[in-house]
Amino acid sequence: MMQNWRNPKKLKMIIKEIDGVRKLLADEDEQNHILIVGQTGSTKTLLLNRLAEEYHSIGYIVVHIESAKSNLEPGWSAFEPTAKYHLDKLKFQNEKSNKQEIRIYHPNIGVPAYKKVPETQIYTLSIKKLDRLLISFLFEESSESSSISILNNEIEQLKKSESFFDLFLKLKKGNSKEEKDLFSLKSQATSINFNTILNYLSRFRDQPILMPDNYEKNLDIVKSLSNQKPYHIFSNRWVNDEKLKSLFTLYIISEIRKAKQSGKIKRPVLIILDELKSIANASPLFSHNKILSKILTENLSIMRSLSVNFLASSQLYNDIDSSVRQSFSEVLYGKSTALNEIQTISQILGLDSFGRRLFTELEYNQFYFLSQDSKKIGILNAHLPRHANQERGEIFDKLFGKQFPDKMKNYKEETKKIMNDFKMQEERVRGSL
Ligand SMILES: Nc1ncnc2c1ncn2[C@@H]1O[C@H](COP(=O)(O)OP(=O)(O)O)[C@@H](O)[C@H]1O
Ligand SMILES: [Mg+2]
Repeated sequence: MMQNWRNPKKLKMIIKEIDGVRKLLADEDEQNHILIVGQTGSTKTLLLNRLAEEYHSIGYIVVHIESAKSNLEPGWSAFEPTAKYHLDKLKFQNEKSNKQEIRIYHPNIGVPAYKKVPETQIYTLSIKKLDRLLISFLFEESSESSSISILNNEIEQLKKSESFFDLFLKLKKGNSKEEKDLFSLKSQATSINFNTILNYLSRFRDQPILMPDNYEKNLDIVKSLSNQKPYHIFSNRWVNDEKLKSLFTLYIISEIRKAKQSGKIKRPVLIILDELKSIANASPLFSHNKILSKILTENLSIMRSLSVNFLASSQLYNDIDSSVRQSFSEVLYGKSTALNEIQTISQILGLDSFGRRLFTELEYNQFYFLSQDSKKIGILNAHLPRHANQERGEIFDKLFGKQFPDKMKNYKEETKKIMNDFKMQEERVRGSL
């Protein structure tokens, strides 16, 4: 039997007219990234989750990367819906409610030690997997700068078992020979690059996050995603540092890219970024965000041909970095009353004042569908997902604990061990000074 997932072209998100109502259904399609836009409450997340179900059902690996809101909203896919509107609509759709298996991942930062939390895969990063792009993000510099070249070279030459501290020492040795204190930044005036590097790296010296390449807790994306059944939810809810959050996001995306490029992940992948603005802001506060948008744009373009689809949402189209938003070939506009937003969209669509009114009058689960393929333009009534949506005032951990008491875990011991391993890596290098 032909397996669908070997041929991602078999999928199509298409509008079909059924009983005079246009609906978005999974069918066969090209490789397109989809962006959903609309004000809060315009049912973006519901549509996004319905689309995820469609992709998943034909064999896609579903990867959620949590947004800045960090409330584990994608986790609601583990629950069956209870809200009346949802159950009513499912009946209308002639479908049964459902729930997904989920797997939550979180980097080894800020994990609460004092309580139980929903089962989570705690992961570290391989220091050797910090490539040019990730380093340039970290250093807020273009990847051609000389400090980045130096660091990149040193990282490439690290052995599989060598640690963050080995790297630090190597950089220092290349700099000043007799320095005894590992973290002192005093150095020769000739080597300004070293100070830049050491400064940026020192943010990792107290947190066990960058580990030797052969460390057991490093995220192994190929192994993790080898199981297509659960939704893979990459959370960063306990990370406070915005820049680190973005680093994890980039790391995951680039790991998926590399795994696809080398053919180690065969199935197509759907990457979901709800609230895209947090990583692709049109007018970012910090310069590292500009680099982030640039790297994201690059990935969006490369990954299209690797059968990786992005599905993202935003409250405002104007809020998204312009090259990032142009990478989305299919855009779905939900209800919006923001004037400058409507103006932008109308310009793109060439709408008159009657057409403009349309955006303010869209109802629940209604979207204006705009595709590069002009035949697909029109209003659609989206189906709801079969699993639950986060409703106001609900807290994920509480609900999860009620429904899956056996899956509530405490990670004190696990994170303590990672910390101890990290300390030992430092001791070993200090001992060699
Ligand atoms: N068909 C519907 N009937 C009634 N209420 C709905 C319907 N669809 C969605 N809602 C309400 O709208 C809320 C917002 O949906 P959501 O997808 O989370 O919006 P967004 O992501 O755009 O902020 C839902 O939680 C639900 O309470
Ligand atoms: Mg939402």
